Amino acid sequence: MAKTEYDQIAGEYKESKLLGFRQHIEAHTLFELMGNLNGKKVLDLACGEGIYTRKIKRAGADKAVGVDLSTEMIRLAEGEEKRNPLGCTYYVSDVARLGPLDEFDIVVGSYLLNYSTTKEELADFARAIYNNLKPGGHFIGFNNNPADFTHSDSRYRSYGFTKHCPNGHKDGDPIVYTFYNEDGSVFQLENYFLKPELHKDVFEACGFSSFHWKKALLSRDGKTSFPETYWDEFLTYQPVCGLVAIK
Ligand SMILES: C[S@@+](CC[C@H](N)C(=O)[O-])C[C@H]1O[C@@H](n2cnc3c(N)ncnc32)[C@H](O)[C@@H]1O
Repeated sequence: MAKTEYDQIAGEYKESKLLGFRQHIEAHTLFELMGNLNGKKVLDLACGEGIYTRKIKRAGADKAVGVDLSTEMIRLAEGEEKRNPLGCTYYVSDVARLGPLDEFDIVVGSYLLNYSTTKEELADFARAIYNNLKPGGHFIGFNNNPADFTHSDSRYRSYGFTKHCPNGHKDGDPIVYTFYNEDGSVFQLENYFLKPELHKDVFEACGFSSFHWKKALLSRDGKTSFPETYWDEFLTYQPVCGLVAIK
């Protein structure tokens, strides 16, 4: 499978945001890690169609800027901004080649780092993040958990997806996610494996003072609106997780 073409799956990807884990774990963890956004300047890298850029602005950010490689994703984000103006701005760019846009308080990367296939590509992402943060600023990420070595194709099926690592877990190996949306549509996307320790080394070599993986968290609403043991496999094996790096 070639690198995921988001221009072609933009609609299905947007639909996948209705799956329970997106709201109750993914968004919840991301916003818990970001903390109070009042008056903050936030850059959302690999913003897709802007779901979190808009949420960040609505949560009180002074400035919310989204950047994505896919022109179709940015077209959807700008369309939504036109229909319901919030003051978010968007750019099409490869994050690896992104120069400084501003000195942001927070840079977000929800499923960004798992697109690097080599140490060099990860270093390009880290540099772009560093160059867009003010001193002491935080990079908050959420993505594939590189410490999840699950070999069970079906472990996460009840949450609306499966995760398959056809070549194993060497740096650069693909991780294939298949999503089963509630509207019946099914689509695949590919992430890439790089060792957890490599991320820390690369970010610290770039100048970050710290880099930490963070456990995925379940919202209170997610806990109460699903059967008691529903999230057990997810929270035990953690297919996805958060991360925080400080400049
Ligand atoms: C799984 S989507 C995540 C979108 C959004 N952050 C979210 O959490 O819903 C991954 C996004 O990363 C973008 N992407 C992948 N590689 C990129 C790169 N090198 N530079 C900018 N965006 C990239 C894709 O176009 C896609 O929109």
